[in-house]
Amino acid sequence: MNSEYDLKRALKAEELYFMHTYNRLPVLFVRGFGTRLWDDDGREYVDFVSGLGACIAGHCHGEIIAAVARQSSQLIHVSNLYHIRPQGELAEMLVRSTFADRVFFCNSGTEANEAAIKLARKYMREVRGEDRYKVVSAMRSFHGRTYGSLAATGQPEKAHPFRPLPEGFVHVPFNDAEALGEAVDESTCAVLLEPIQGEGGVYVADPSYLKRARELCEERGALLILDEVQTGMGRTGALFAHQHYGILPDVMTVAKGLAGGLPLGAVLATEEVARGFQPGDHGSTFGGNPVACAAALAVLTVLQEEQLVENAARVGGYFRERLLRLQEEVPGIVEVRGLGLMLAVELESLDAGNVVRECLKRGYVVNNIGQRILRFLPPLNVSTREVDGLVEVLAELLRGGYGEGKVGE
Ligand SMILES: Cc1ncc(COP(=O)(O)O)c(C=O)c1O
Repeated sequence: MNSEYDLKRALKAEELYFMHTYNRLPVLFVRGFGTRLWDDDGREYVDFVSGLGACIAGHCHGEIIAAVARQSSQLIHVSNLYHIRPQGELAEMLVRSTFADRVFFCNSGTEANEAAIKLARKYMREVRGEDRYKVVSAMRSFHGRTYGSLAATGQPEKAHPFRPLPEGFVHVPFNDAEALGEAVDESTCAVLLEPIQGEGGVYVADPSYLKRARELCEERGALLILDEVQTGMGRTGALFAHQHYGILPDVMTVAKGLAGGLPLGAVLATEEVARGFQPGDHGSTFGGNPVACAAALAVLTVLQEEQLVENAARVGGYFRERLLRLQEEVPGIVEVRGLGLMLAVELESLDAGNVVRECLKRGYVVNNIGQRILRFLPPLNVSTREVDGLVEVLAELLRGGYGEGKVGE
């Protein structure tokens, strides 16, 4: 039955049964292990996308499989009407590993941001009054697709067709401390920032910018919410990206890598701010599901046992150097950006979508953001050899494609 569902049938299903929300690449992945994926024809690929940054410990890691199997043979779901063993253990682990005192679990990044915005508004309303509702976020940011997170997202084209949006969201240019200073006032409840803008094109916050954001929140009595949905769980070479900056948020949102590929999100907050939520204020049927939490506990163990955060820093540094060297050697790269294993290359004129398709043909899975940006989010156990392989493919494409119109046409 399963084997009959091949790429041809998948393409047919896309055409006939799905809403057209995705422009999927013509490949049907059926198996994964470590940094590798296999399609329905048995072709092997090196994965530099890791399920949009979620499969942080690689595909089908033995310890994660075992944890999921163990938990799903015991209890798959009960809801948050009751205590859940792996959820409690995970909350304790997260609190012990971060600035936070309390955790709320949900299922995704957008839900985590939704919850963080609700928490900030409720806390501020109680502490400073109901006029403190404004959320200041950055242009080009991405916080999710549900209404609150969409309103916070600084990409108007994504929100425009769905107006009216919730009120009280203001966007300022990223990395512009002065603009932030002008926007944060007595009506601001929170500043919401990604330490590295991911979906917006991989733009790293300047250290002075995040420091100033922290100070401004302090001075003006607003909360600092960091969206670490993409940057968290070791992706940038620290467990959370804000650790590179020497600042602490009041609230942090996490998802993607948290459960290594299973749907799980979390809002982490200080004791003080967490007071904002009382029973009945927020909730989720599936949030913090036992299987997802068991997977997340295994992810945290694997990160530590296999020193994957350190690997992200080391291989990420190597990858960045190789891309910078590539920029010197071949024409067509405007900029190399990112930190750890969250990297991007901005192309001068080649079509990034075409480069992605050419990479796929050569056995490398990479992602593009719009027409000019290639993004790399490999599993944290990627090796320098695998990086070398991809860089060679990119070099070939940039040499061959550029000017001849092969790739860019
Ligand atoms: C920084 C950031 N926040 C939020 C989200 C939304 O996460 P999800 O797709 O799990 O809702 C993303 C997704 O890419 C993200 O990168």
